[in-house]
Amino acid sequence: MRKPLIAGNWKMFKTTAEAEAFAVEFKELYHGTDVGAAICAPFTQLLALKKAFEGTDVKLGAQNMHFEDEGAFTGEVSAGMLKEIGVDYCIIGHSERRQYFAETDETVNKKIIKAFSAGITPIMCIGEVLEERDAGKAFEVVKKQLEGGLLGISAGLAAKLVIAYEPVWAIGTGRNATPQQANEMCAFIRKLLEEMYTGEVSDEVVIQYGGSVKPANATDIMNMEEIDGALVGGASLKAKDFMEIINF
Ligand code: PGA
Repeated sequence: MRKPLIAGNWKMFKTTAEAEAFAVEFKELYHGTDVGAAICAPFTQLLALKKAFEGTDVKLGAQNMHFEDEGAFTGEVSAGMLKEIGVDYCIIGHSERRQYFAETDETVNKKIIKAFSAGITPIMCIGEVLEERDAGKAFEVVKKQLEGGLLGISAGLAAKLVIAYEPVWAIGTGRNATPQQANEMCAFIRKLLEEMYTGEVSDEVVIQYGGSVKPANATDIMNMEEIDGALVGGASLKAKDFMEIINF
């Protein structure tokens, strides 16, 4: 049976010194949890965090990777390089990557395939923008992203996926989706997975909600039946807030 995952997405925040200070504070507060906890940090902070979290069950994630093993791709980092330093998860296709770095369902698909082959669990991000929700197209958009991103992925691998439903209008805006809206879309995604694969597969997939999750709304969101944890941006930058969300 799937276990919820609360993952922090630090985006382009925190120097190594700040990451280390976070780890010290966080470890003082953290005494294990029934849900999984992970921090997805900038590349240059991963090694320091790996060392800082040694001996705990806090997992480590990157925020992006390239889909080739190696090559002339200036500025890129491969899945193998991430695996070598002990990275467990990689966020793939975050809406900021889609918006600012031209990621498409096709690149998302290639990255998911590569992450799995390197032994890294992808946290696949999907979600509609405000105009799409207002136009009644949210479900259609999410379906297209899900199907495109998972093209050719076997049932065995799909069962190991983490999917983050992140409505773009709720990211960094302070305006979270209502727990009902989030639950409805997570249920829709699970149904689609059942149609694409099987009920056994859809039962295994961890489906998070992301978008303005904070201590004040974490309990309501996390208690929804179809939501298996959260991808947390801003509120994961403070050890105390992130801890409160983990202990929802
Ligand atoms: P937020 O970001 O929690 O700051 O809205 C979430 C995300 O982008 O993953």
